[in-house]
Amino acid sequence: MRYRTIGDGDRAIEVSTLCLGAMNFGTVVDEETSFAILDRFVEAGGTFIDTANNYNAWVGGYGRDSEDLLGRWLASRGVRDELRIATKLGAAKKDPSKPLSTTPPTNYQGLAADTIDREARQSLRHLGIDRIDVLYGHVDDRETPLAETVGAFGKLQSEGVVGLTGISNVALWRVVEARAEAERQGVPPYAVVQQQHSYVYPRPPAIRTPIRTPWTTPELFDYAASTGTDGRPSLAVVAYSPLLKGALSRPDKPLFNGADHAGSRERVRVLAEVASEIGATPSQVALAWMLGAEVPAVPVVGPSSVAQLDELLVAADLDLDPEVRERLDAA
Ligand SMILES: NC(=O)c1ccc[n+]([C@@H]2O[C@H](COP(=O)([O-])OP(=O)(O)OC[C@H]3O[C@@H](n4cnc5c(N)ncnc54)[C@H](OP(=O)(O)O)[C@@H]3O)[C@@H](O)[C@H]2O)c1
Repeated sequence: MRYRTIGDGDRAIEVSTLCLGAMNFGTVVDEETSFAILDRFVEAGGTFIDTANNYNAWVGGYGRDSEDLLGRWLASRGVRDELRIATKLGAAKKDPSKPLSTTPPTNYQGLAADTIDREARQSLRHLGIDRIDVLYGHVDDRETPLAETVGAFGKLQSEGVVGLTGISNVALWRVVEARAEAERQGVPPYAVVQQQHSYVYPRPPAIRTPIRTPWTTPELFDYAASTGTDGRPSLAVVAYSPLLKGALSRPDKPLFNGADHAGSRERVRVLAEVASEIGATPSQVALAWMLGAEVPAVPVVGPSSVAQLDELLVAADLDLDPEVRERLDAA
């Protein structure tokens, strides 16, 4: 396993370059298997774990199933201090009687100050911890004034219950404005942004996509690269669904969320070709491509078995030759 630093100054933390996604733990993946995956991840040196306050409300869970499972696992293993726990708020159900939707009306709880304060404290209780290492806004909220959201995250940081903050499913300009607002308020700015990112790209969006902005963009990486210098607090990019839920290696899995086009299919073909030539698997090459990029992202992988995790762990130490990377980039 390898490690990197995210955040700055006395808030900086070291995390494993592979993050383990716990979204399906306690719902799609049963408790015994989830515990085995978590144990194996820690045994392999993994330290960064990702969850949210709404996993998996859309597949029969009540929303805090993953946090609850992690809480039980942490309590039984005594490894909390070795780990960095990230959770998210803002995309749980505002009205519990209605479903969640990715298009309006979404029924997201949003990022108002009272929601952030209440939900973060509930996450602490469900996880059984006294500090959240990384707290994300799960989806951007354009209805709440940015100053209110930024101030609420900053308050939790000043109280010591949250280490770093971040935002997910967000347009770049909103990240930049939120960080400028944090500077105005004298609170730590978002240090992490979590977007969907993988070896294949979505179709270019329509001219304006104001509501759903789940993917990374070249501009995001360009902006992230410009940070981490004096007066420009660092911004780390964390990548969710880095294997496109298995679609990079398995024909039974659909290319989704705009990624179903001829360009993706060509990249999936080249990925398989390169992988077989260098004696690796497509998933390993896809993760190594991301980890070894000029601006590396932290992949949040979601294995549903120990065998899947074992395959993915190899990628943490896999360095691609420059000519291999060139071929992958060119496809
Ligand atoms: N911020 C957000 O809005 C957001 C959104 C989504 C996810 N996330 C985070 O990102 C994490 C990962 O998301 P994800 O589950 O979509 O990521 P993913 O790693 O792209 O996909 C996981 C799926 O890929 C398949 N898979 C995993 N390892 C494999 C392997 N070695 N060989 C073959 N297939 C393999 C499995 O499918 P099968 O189970 O069918 O075998 C697994 O369920 C989540 O747990 C969550 O923490 C965040």
